[in-house]
Amino acid sequence: MAPWTFTIGIIGLASLALVAGQNPANSTLLDQRLCSMSLEFQSLEYYAGELGHPNQFTHNVIQNIVQRVGLPPAMRIGGNTQDRTYFDSSVDIAVRLPAGTAAVPNPTQMQIYVGPKFFQLSENLPKNTVVTYGVNLKFDNLTDTLGEATALFNAFPHGNQGSVKLELLEIGNEPDFYFNGVDSYASQWTEFAKNISQAVKLVPGQGPAFQAGDFAGHSASNFSITRLLNTGILSGDTGARINTVSQHMYMGDGATGTVSTLLNKGLSRSKLASFKSDIAYANSKGLRYILGETNSFYNGGATNASNTGATAIWATDYSLQAATLNISRTYYHNNIASGYQAYYPAVYNIFEPVGNVVIGNSTTARPQVQPQYHAFLVVAEAIGNSGKSRIAELPAASDYIASYGIWEKGKLVRIVIINSQPWVYASTGSRPVITVQLQGITKHTKATYKTLYVPHADIAQGLTWAGQSYATESGFPSGRVVQEVVKDGQINISATSIVLVSLH
Ligand SMILES: *[C@@H]1O[C@H](CO)[C@@H](O)[C@H](O)[C@H]1NC(C)=O
Ligand SMILES: *[C@@H]1O[C@H](CO)[C@@H](O)[C@H](O)[C@H]1NC(C)=O
Ligand SMILES: *[C@@H]1O[C@H](CO)[C@@H](O)[C@H](O)[C@H]1NC(C)=O
Ligand SMILES: *[C@@H]1O[C@H](CO)[C@@H](O)[C@H](O)[C@H]1NC(C)=O
Ligand SMILES: *[C@@H]1O[C@H](CO)[C@@H](O)[C@H](O)[C@H]1NC(C)=O
Ligand SMILES: *[C@@H]1O[C@H](CO)[C@@H](O)[C@H](O)[C@H]1NC(C)=O
Ligand SMILES: *[C@@H]1O[C@H](CO)[C@@H](O)[C@H](O)[C@H]1NC(C)=O
Ligand SMILES: *[C@@H]1O[C@H](CO)[C@@H](O)[C@H](O)[C@H]1NC(C)=O
Repeated sequence: MAPWTFTIGIIGLASLALVAGQNPANSTLLDQRLCSMSLEFQSLEYYAGELGHPNQFTHNVIQNIVQRVGLPPAMRIGGNTQDRTYFDSSVDIAVRLPAGTAAVPNPTQMQIYVGPKFFQLSENLPKNTVVTYGVNLKFDNLTDTLGEATALFNAFPHGNQGSVKLELLEIGNEPDFYFNGVDSYASQWTEFAKNISQAVKLVPGQGPAFQAGDFAGHSASNFSITRLLNTGILSGDTGARINTVSQHMYMGDGATGTVSTLLNKGLSRSKLASFKSDIAYANSKGLRYILGETNSFYNGGATNASNTGATAIWATDYSLQAATLNISRTYYHNNIASGYQAYYPAVYNIFEPVGNVVIGNSTTARPQVQPQYHAFLVVAEAIGNSGKSRIAELPAASDYIASYGIWEKGKLVRIVIINSQPWVYASTGSRPVITVQLQGITKHTKATYKTLYVPHADIAQGLTWAGQSYATESGFPSGRVVQEVVKDGQINISATSIVLVSLH
């Protein structure tokens, strides 16, 4: 069969031709765990459930993802609380937070305490979950860190905890906040990594691996992955164990974040593009490059932005764009329990596994998905469960349209088309539509599509994926799946929505 030319043309705008019969030269392999999750320490018990009582809602909403992509998201347990943790063998399961007072009910909590059972909680997570645990580097207290590491490895005999696997160990979170350069960080990291390796008797060549970097910021002349990899951190047994380097990234500060920042196609692209040379350098050293902590806005998210429909649009584009740059995973940060800082709205979570969670100024009555959860569904379905799909961007000369092709066995099988034109609660008139012309769709190509419907970019409720609502008590979808047939290669895509086209 002769390869046919496939063009995504936006009426009135420029278009790009791709040969659909083969992968584009610059496609990247998709990790089935592209959309993963990161949890602050005190949130683990909420997401996983108490020991022996797995959280059913977590299992349900992750099952929706597994059905599409074959594997559950990876879970990283770390973040600011990782570097505020003391190990205390008397703490029973949950994180112990410093007590509040009537005047200051949620004091800024610079010290938290965990005991051995804390590290067992992850066994409640869905089967085939891989986890990353973070241990404390900031306190510069080896006794403390070894207490944590020993309890962690005891909780994972042979690297496993039932069907949950300890994939990575992270030593220190955002060390650029407490070291004055990559050299001092690398030398202290190596000392801690050596002592941990000895204490828990790690065997060279066997898991888990180490993850390094985890920088909050990025500076080509100071803290960058490239500069880190030139310090000598990769040498010796501890260096050989590093297989992943991690950078953190947010779109901005929770105090100032807006929906229009999230819907700015150029902004997320330029932010991600700043990591290109680091990614290439890490890959040249045989390392995987990830965004080990990311989300819309730091400090818990921005009320009226991080909990809105816009996040579903943003996170879908952001994760897929990251994948085209060979960022293997994007770990979206979550924190549902207050206590990490005095005011912590935690509006950026993917889902709330329990009730009584404060989101912005309101409190949830029961477990529920957040708008951003829909990005996990769309991305999971776009990746598929082959483990071998590849992605490349189909560049669109539009400020609003972003598009990605997904190839399997060299054949274009799916196309994600994202329309980030804002449609907000205050918008008037009829909702704008952009007509996308798929050129190369012949009478012999059957193409169908599903739509992510977002009522308004700045509203949290009412989203549907392929006609189904996930805002149910169980987290399982309600309603019938709606799939439409592409006619004459044309699709009208409403402002603030996404379509996933399948070529049969
Ligand atoms: C992949 O190649 C296309 C076509 O040459 C180009 O437009 C696009 O920017 C490339 N993508 C990356 C991530 O380099
Ligand atoms: C170091 O950690 C241990 C164990 O958590 C603790 O008992 C000790 O007080 C810590 N040392 C300092 C200087 O904080
Ligand atoms: C590098 O960053 C650290 C932490 O932000 C800072 O203390 C230090 O002065 C910086 N060094 C240089 C050379 O800019
Ligand atoms: C860390 O390891 C060094 C040797 O590599 C050893 O001298 C030191 O006692 C260890 N520290 C702790 C706290 O175990
Ligand atoms: C992407 O990264 C992986 C390591 O995670 C590497 O094996 C692969 O060669 C990289 N792909 C490209 C296209 O650079
Ligand atoms: C969020 O939006 C509501 C409704 O428009 C508004 O009343 C409220 O002030 C906004 N809150 C913040 C923190 O911007
Ligand atoms: C939410 O709380 C903040 C801080 O107390 C306040 O500034 C804001 O107006 C509140 N928003 C709503 C919608 O009540
Ligand atoms: C798209 O919208 C245009 C303008 O309303 C209409 O003429 C066309 O028939 C629509 N196409 C499809 C495939 O719905």
